[in-house]
Amino acid sequence: MEAVSFCFNLASPIVTVLIKPETIQRILETARIEEVIGDFVSLKKRGSNYLGLCPFHNEKTPSFSVSPAKGIYKCFGCGKAGNVVNFIIEHEHYSYPEALKFLAKKYAIEVEEEQMTPEMRQELDERESMFTLNGFVTKYLSHNLFHNDEGKAVALSYLKERDFREATIEKFGLGYALDKWHDYSDHALKNGYKKELLLKTGLSIDKEKGLIDRFRGRIIFPIHNLTGKVIGFGGRILSAEKSTAKYLNSPESDIYNKSKVLYGIYFARNAIVKQDNCFLVEGYTDVISLHQAGIENVVASSGTSLTVDQIRLIKRYTPNITILFDGDPAGIKASFRGIDLILEQGMNVKIVLFPDGEDPDSYVRSHRSSEVEEFIKAQAADFIIFKTRLMLEETAGDPAGKAALIKEIVQSISVIPDGITRSVYVKECSTVMEVPEQTLVNALNKIFRNRFRKKTDTPPEVIEDVAVLQPRETQVEFDPLTLKNHEGDLLRILLMYGSQTISIELDETELDKFDEKEMEVRIADFLLDDLLREQIHFEDETYNKILSEYIEIWKNGELPSENHFTNHNDPEVVSTVINLLSSAYQLSENWKANKIYVKTEEDQLKLVVISAWMSFKSRLINKQLKALTEEIQKQGNEEADIYLLQQQFFELKKIANQIDRELKRTFTY
Ligand code: CTP
Ligand code: MN
Repeated sequence: MEAVSFCFNLASPIVTVLIKPETIQRILETARIEEVIGDFVSLKKRGSNYLGLCPFHNEKTPSFSVSPAKGIYKCFGCGKAGNVVNFIIEHEHYSYPEALKFLAKKYAIEVEEEQMTPEMRQELDERESMFTLNGFVTKYLSHNLFHNDEGKAVALSYLKERDFREATIEKFGLGYALDKWHDYSDHALKNGYKKELLLKTGLSIDKEKGLIDRFRGRIIFPIHNLTGKVIGFGGRILSAEKSTAKYLNSPESDIYNKSKVLYGIYFARNAIVKQDNCFLVEGYTDVISLHQAGIENVVASSGTSLTVDQIRLIKRYTPNITILFDGDPAGIKASFRGIDLILEQGMNVKIVLFPDGEDPDSYVRSHRSSEVEEFIKAQAADFIIFKTRLMLEETAGDPAGKAALIKEIVQSISVIPDGITRSVYVKECSTVMEVPEQTLVNALNKIFRNRFRKKTDTPPEVIEDVAVLQPRETQVEFDPLTLKNHEGDLLRILLMYGSQTISIELDETELDKFDEKEMEVRIADFLLDDLLREQIHFEDETYNKILSEYIEIWKNGELPSENHFTNHNDPEVVSTVINLLSSAYQLSENWKANKIYVKTEEDQLKLVVISAWMSFKSRLINKQLKALTEEIQKQGNEEADIYLLQQQFFELKKIANQIDRELKRTFTY
């Protein structure tokens, strides 16, 4: 097991402190999952497991199951699953090392940390010192605001005029930088903070005569990271003059990475989880005003367009974003492309448009909290529908404009990863635009084909016909070209039965080497030999990671132990493996509970293994065939190329038919 790194803030994930692998091992061995979860969820014993109400989604009948024997939990309602560390990460929103430390504390285990190199130590010390300095200056500027005459007269009065209450000002740590060349820089130097540190944090600027304050005569908004440490500052000018920028911000530093932080995330994260929604606004003051009105699930992108890192940060807490726009159509249209980025992350995006000339901050000040909440609720419109309506208004009576509009809208739909969601949008937009569904489907498929041709993407499911778009009975997306289910099935078999054996018939070429017609082989050897020989990699990233690790251990003549993956230090690996294992586990439990005798997998391992392997192969080949077909149909191919491609096609087709025949034979055993 690798040592685990500590990241002190999200702005810059640099390895600083390492927890020793032995310590991690001890924590995992000592922590009793039913005890740990029992502190948060009321659990009842059911057979060898415990059952309770799932803390991750709302439910009335318990479907959250904890297995002390396996050391895992799994909710059969929402699908959340993991080991004891994952639980603390999910439930408390801790990082991995934070969760380990939490458990260590509960079980009084001493956390031993890896010896750090001098460079690592220095790096850590420096970052820590930067946090400390920022905290020190934040306090000092807050003191200026409340107690210095200039601060009280110009800054505090201004904030009060904007209806910011003292408790709110304190909570967000607002302050005031005096209108002097060197005030807080001197104060920090006097208190032993080094010049280099003041420069590194960007608080001060080096001039011939010494340091000067970067922020002068400005209201200061400290920017906090996820754990509440101050990583940078924004400073607002008080006068309305246009000659200087309204806001001045800290430059990027080792601890402040603008594209990775969202203003207000520290104060919002719990509310975001609770509301299962994140409001996104433009500015510092919008965040603070909404907060003051009791709406706490709100963060700001601070005037710049949203980055993928920022979206992922929100996605850690919720898949739902509601963007609160001030009523400026030009600004809204400018942000459409950015919103596609959010859709691309598979998130649900809603839009709230404030009346012209109002931003969330001004609206909150002129309305009661309950009115604000109602307004947001009533106004929230789905982004794609909103975009369609807005652009439709503009293209009224203009056919060329409408064609462009269709392209625009379909572009947004095309980035949504989930096929069913895409289909629903096609349907709705066709109604809103009064355009036949098939027209949109065609436009969508065209985008997909182009994308595939550019080889930037795997070929998505091309929708052939409107009929396919009708809502399906099951909620599971079925993509005939997707290998993921088959990959998962193979992995699951490896994990559950890798060490067991099946007897396989030897084919004729091998017969003379052995006396027997059949041979016992370990399932792991059977599958991995083939996978390696054919150089197959799984498409799914996590599956591939698990497979590679499995193969590494297998190559050393061993097989991974039962809990190698369920106690893995990558939470993604843990939950993936648990989900794979529990899908089979749940079935057999149900059977047992209902005293139904069904042939279990173990009774017919050979059939299970061979059919999983062949189904996988069959899919893989079909996918290659499909790609070849597209290649052949591509325009501008040379005659000779087409011939070669066709040859390949027929070769593959032959193998595919063979496999299909085999599959049929296997199933009629
Ligand atoms: N911003 C900036 N630099 C500027 C203007 C704006 O960094 N020159 C960022 C700030 O983070 C600001 C956000 O963009 O909070 C939104 O700008 P704006 O709406 O002008 O500011 P508000 O936060 O609404 O501030 P105020 O209400 O005090 O004008
Ligand atoms: Mn404003």
